[in-house]
Amino acid sequence: PSLKTIFQDDFLIGTCLNTSQIAGKDSAESNLIEQQFSAITPENIMKAHILHPAWNRFDFELADKLVAYAAKHRLKVNGHTLIWHSQLPDYIRQINDVDSVRQYFVNHIETVASRYDGLIESWDVVNEALNEDGTLRNSIFLEKLGKNYIIEAFRLAQKAAPNTKLYYNDYNIEQPQKRAGAISLIKSIQAAGVRIDGVGIQGHWRAGDVPMEDIEESIQEFSALGIEVMFTELDLSVLPNPWDSNIADIGRKAAYRAEMDPYSGGLPDSIQHVQALAYESLFRLFIKYRDSISRITFWGVSDGQSWLNNWPVRGRTNYPLLFDRQFKPKAAFYRVIAAGSVN
Ligand code: G3I
Repeated sequence: PSLKTIFQDDFLIGTCLNTSQIAGKDSAESNLIEQQFSAITPENIMKAHILHPAWNRFDFELADKLVAYAAKHRLKVNGHTLIWHSQLPDYIRQINDVDSVRQYFVNHIETVASRYDGLIESWDVVNEALNEDGTLRNSIFLEKLGKNYIIEAFRLAQKAAPNTKLYYNDYNIEQPQKRAGAISLIKSIQAAGVRIDGVGIQGHWRAGDVPMEDIEESIQEFSALGIEVMFTELDLSVLPNPWDSNIADIGRKAAYRAEMDPYSGGLPDSIQHVQALAYESLFRLFIKYRDSISRITFWGVSDGQSWLNNWPVRGRTNYPLLFDRQFKPKAAFYRVIAAGSVN
């Protein structure tokens, strides 16, 4: 069975990709990508430090390859991401006057967004601009350009990429306080007469602890703003969250070491089951709101490639996705397909 086929009348099914996958280094993986997905997000190669490595130099080689790969395989591309406080090029750290920051900001958005207009589906224009309490996160952009920088980013993107959908993307925005911040941010963009087409809820959750009610309320409240709702970086970790209080109590470093690979013999059936049911419940909810949801993107193809193997420390072994390290479908894959089959 194929995810993109099962959900073709509901929403796009995406994954994130990196350079080696675009180059087709592993044929089992390439086949899986072609069979299963209808959309891609570059995991890293459209981030500013890669696209814009020096003050006056852009490097589009990898991004162009990704766009060509997508065209060949009829995959919609979501550009990720124009403005993000993290993974900035090094030279940004050396500028601290308002004019230079503004110059970087305008130049980056205009150059990158216009290059891919008409070639990609959408951009995450701004990524992760909010604190957990819903206030604006401190960043070089907030500090130098002021609180309207997000509206400005969308305004510049709208001008440079009139044919590209424009999204705000963040994690934990299903949580009530942060969600309220996201809603007022989106309203402020709309009130300024600037286009915003959708919101991406990242969806980095834990298999046994998916906040289903918050997610449902979020779908309702965000879609009431008249914009698309997406889940953009979905994965369900099976390892303890380092921010759990019991782990904090015994000391985070010790906990990380003890929990690098608690399932080294393979993910036990009981955990597989919990994860599979969590994915199934999520997809049942997504189907209920299929008129409001335009895309579900997994943050990776297979467990072996997930960023969660390297977070919060390198070398953990996590199992958050639908396909295992040999690219075989897991129980979770079959439960998602089952959810889609009762459509
Ligand atoms: O490629 C280099 C490698 O050459 C080097 O040896 C190694 C040593 O650190 O680093 C490698 O680069 C890493 C890169 O991923 C590719 O694996 C970077 O250090 C690492 O910081 C980078 O992490 C990415 C992270 O964003 C930061 O950009 C993750 O892959 C990516 O999954 C993650 O994605 C983010 C979204 O963009 C936004 N939302 C949260 C999500 C998860 O953190």
